[in-house]
Amino acid sequence: MQLFLDGSDIEKIRKFSKLGLIDGVTTNPSIILKSGKNMIEVISELAEIVSGSVSAEVSALDSETMIEEGIKLSEIAKNVTVKLPITWDGLAACNALYKKDISVNMTLCFSVSQALLAAKAGAEYVSPFIGRLDDLNLKGVELISDIKLVYSNYKFPTKILAASIRTINHVKECARHGSDVATIPIDIFERLVKHPLTDSGLSQFTADWEKTGQSII
Ligand code: G3P
Repeated sequence: MQLFLDGSDIEKIRKFSKLGLIDGVTTNPSIILKSGKNMIEVISELAEIVSGSVSAEVSALDSETMIEEGIKLSEIAKNVTVKLPITWDGLAACNALYKKDISVNMTLCFSVSQALLAAKAGAEYVSPFIGRLDDLNLKGVELISDIKLVYSNYKFPTKILAASIRTINHVKECARHGSDVATIPIDIFERLVKHPLTDSGLSQFTADWEKTGQSII
């Protein structure tokens, strides 16, 4: 499973990217608002730091302006993916951008039928929002396996990019259900490495090694 960061904290994204762990980044209007920065500048910076896909979302609701905004965003850098909502206008814009060889991530996906339309329109990614489905007492991750089944039935190349990830368990479940990508908020990504048994085991090994009086280098 590819790991994307869902956020715009440049320093933290740079840090994890240097470790070779990050395959891409996603943003949305709420993330840009929180950053307090200019969207074009944020996307340019992210696209330089990360070699993989960087999703930048359009603001328009009509297809004509979505296409215009999408072309502008795609011109920021080769690795920019244009993020569009799954509406009829979004699907029309997706197909138009696909025909221009522009990568599209269809976002706000909550059903298999929406994912099917996104694939038909030529999206490179579809983003099911699993946390927001869980909020409604539904099983968000089940949408991932359902979409996966439908895509494999018809060999659609569209990749499933699990979004709205709220917990470490969500990350595990996305991997278990075969999501192609999980986009993870930075604070959750930072906690992925943590386990109390790793900490206590390491303390014990370190103390015992010191008692041996040896050194390796
Ligand atoms: O990429 C979209 C995702 O970040 C939304 O997450 O937690 O606002 O549902 P959330």
